[in-house]
Amino acid sequence: MENRKSFAAFSDAARYLPGGVNSPVRAFGGVDRDPLFIAGAKGSRIFDLDGHEYIDYVGSWGPMILGHAHPAVVAAIHKAADKGASFGAPTLAETELAARIVGAFGSIEKLRLLSSGTEAVMTAIRLARAYTGRDKIVKMAGCYHGHSDSLLVAAGSGLAEQGTAASPGVPEALANLTVVIPYNDIGAVAQAFERHPGRIAAVLVEPVAANMGVVAPEPGYLESLRQLCTDNGTVLIFDEVITGFRVAFGGAQERYGVTADLTCLGKIVGGGLPLAVCGGRAEIMDLLAPLGRVYQAGTLSGNPIATAAAIATLDILAEDRVYRELESAAANLEAGLAQAAAEAGVPLTINRVGSILSCFFTNRPVRNFDDVRATDVAAFKRFFSHMLDRGIYLAPSAYEAMFLSSAHTKQDIDRTVEAARASFQAVATR
Ligand SMILES: Cc1ncc(COP(=O)(O)O)c(C=O)c1O
Repeated sequence: MENRKSFAAFSDAARYLPGGVNSPVRAFGGVDRDPLFIAGAKGSRIFDLDGHEYIDYVGSWGPMILGHAHPAVVAAIHKAADKGASFGAPTLAETELAARIVGAFGSIEKLRLLSSGTEAVMTAIRLARAYTGRDKIVKMAGCYHGHSDSLLVAAGSGLAEQGTAASPGVPEALANLTVVIPYNDIGAVAQAFERHPGRIAAVLVEPVAANMGVVAPEPGYLESLRQLCTDNGTVLIFDEVITGFRVAFGGAQERYGVTADLTCLGKIVGGGLPLAVCGGRAEIMDLLAPLGRVYQAGTLSGNPIATAAAIATLDILAEDRVYRELESAAANLEAGLAQAAAEAGVPLTINRVGSILSCFFTNRPVRNFDDVRATDVAAFKRFFSHMLDRGIYLAPSAYEAMFLSSAHTKQDIDRTVEAARASFQAVATR
């Protein structure tokens, strides 16, 4: 496939942008190819500079659940933009959006609007520390919560030991306050509480892990996290930046019936524009300035254009049928991919929760980050390349999810399965 224009654009970009991109995974480093530069997108399709069209399963890494350039969202953006891009002062739309979010998430009594998921989680952690007067936080290996210092942390030498910095520039002293343990391992959480008595401010988790590919919580896992946090006076933070408005309108909390103290939202909640949410129990949220003493602020927080896109998106998602249709389209895709892999004799484990799914090249179950790392990443890379050459745009990393949108049609799914059949054959015969 000719990608001359994308290739030239990437070289030009690298003169000004470190690595040629504004977020690392976009550079396609995980699949040993050059990235596509995007000219535009509509519905389920995305178009590159060289004039190729792809069925898009990245969806901007999750936000585009209604597909690209949904007419109602575009109209709301235009209407808001006509009135001015930013005021740095309160608007009615912020309250309207907040009311919708509170209506969707039973556990959110009050919330703050912010601009990115990173900020949302950073704020939740500051609140949890202030509320409890404690300093340590527990996170799960393979879960991603943005790039704030406290969360770019790798597991320490032993289970439930203090973590170590996962990026240069993160002070070890701060990383040491984060305890990293395996996902889906409630024994490890209990051990963390035993090892650090009275010191754990928050347990932070993606209730469905979706940044190591999709890994569902095992039955009872979220409930046990809830119980341990309650027993220990620790704040339970659900990072629903991916799962919020994705796995159900009310996120993983609705789907699994487990309630967090604080919830972080991003991606879908902004309708494709920069908007995120930190929300939860009023008693904790009221610690935020100006009411309380926990400082947090943002020039563009509650930005009117982003808020308008958010309201338009949530109003469509509030219709029940969206999730029913997404569930059934995703189930069909899962079944088609599984059959195509089986026919080609390629070992494949598909993890799916609602409209997010992952293909792991292994015949073993995948329930935590160690399992993910044991999968055949080289096979994924070959699969990715074959799919791209057949017009299917998957996330350029073995550790990311496929995101379906309500714009994906039955024909899109059928075409994807056809492409996968040929791609699995190619992977198998190499
Ligand atoms: C679960 C989760 N939390 C937080 C973030 C950070 O969000 P942002 O990239 O908007 O800062 C991400 C981003 O992928 C995410 O997937």
